[in-house]
Amino acid sequence: MITVSSYLPKIKTWYEQNISAEMREHCKRVGKTAKTYAESLDLDPDVAKVAGFAHDCAKELEPTRLVNLARENNLPLIPLDYFKITAFLHAKVGEVIARGQFGIEDADVLASIRCHTFGEPRMSKIAMVVFVADDTEPARKEKYAEPVRKVLAEEGLEKAVLKALNIKLQQAIENGCFIHPSMIETRNYFVRTLSSVSMGTVTMDEELLTKMTNGNFVETLNNRLKSAVKEGQATDPLLAEVRNYALRIKFTVK
Ligand SMILES: [Fe+2]
Ligand SMILES: [Fe+2]
Repeated sequence: MITVSSYLPKIKTWYEQNISAEMREHCKRVGKTAKTYAESLDLDPDVAKVAGFAHDCAKELEPTRLVNLARENNLPLIPLDYFKITAFLHAKVGEVIARGQFGIEDADVLASIRCHTFGEPRMSKIAMVVFVADDTEPARKEKYAEPVRKVLAEEGLEKAVLKALNIKLQQAIENGCFIHPSMIETRNYFVRTLSSVSMGTVTMDEELLTKMTNGNFVETLNNRLKSAVKEGQATDPLLAEVRNYALRIKFTVK
């Protein structure tokens, strides 16, 4: 029987050739952290470890190579992907590398790699474990990692994913970065399935449109998104897209 651990030598060789020592160490820590979480949640620790170790296999490929691999493999791309190629594409292309270079067929490992940046609605438990491990491995800044660890310990895996998504969204707003609609889509899914606070959605209502036309687009949209995070509300992906557009035409891209 082929076990997922049998992929480790191929992954290690790839890492020696394509990934820096620093990134390799991050991947090792994510693998270890994912294994620990899986053990405590009664999930397969070996699958979590391999998925965690492999998750950033495409992180340091040249942006042109990432785009070419994405196009050759018919991955769904949106215009925004071209504005932050490494950040937005390395997870999806990572799945291609895992299949092609490591020969991985395990659905959990592939999904964990594919959705470790933005998550996915209905993602598997192992994929959630890797998602949370990526954000909470020991070298991550405590300020961001600790709240997610706390939610994981006290409220469970799904809520920890939502917490991590909320933190990522807040960081993107605070740092003036683009927000990928896939992240909004995942967060909305978790808000809808988990939230007891509100099932409301923030949409492009009349008040918002008036504020936007009269004042600062980005500030108005940032406030709406921030308050949605605070209130545990879902948000209209169009809101994020309009914000991205406003950001692109008014500010330097980060
Ligand atoms: Fe990554
Ligand atoms: Fe990572």
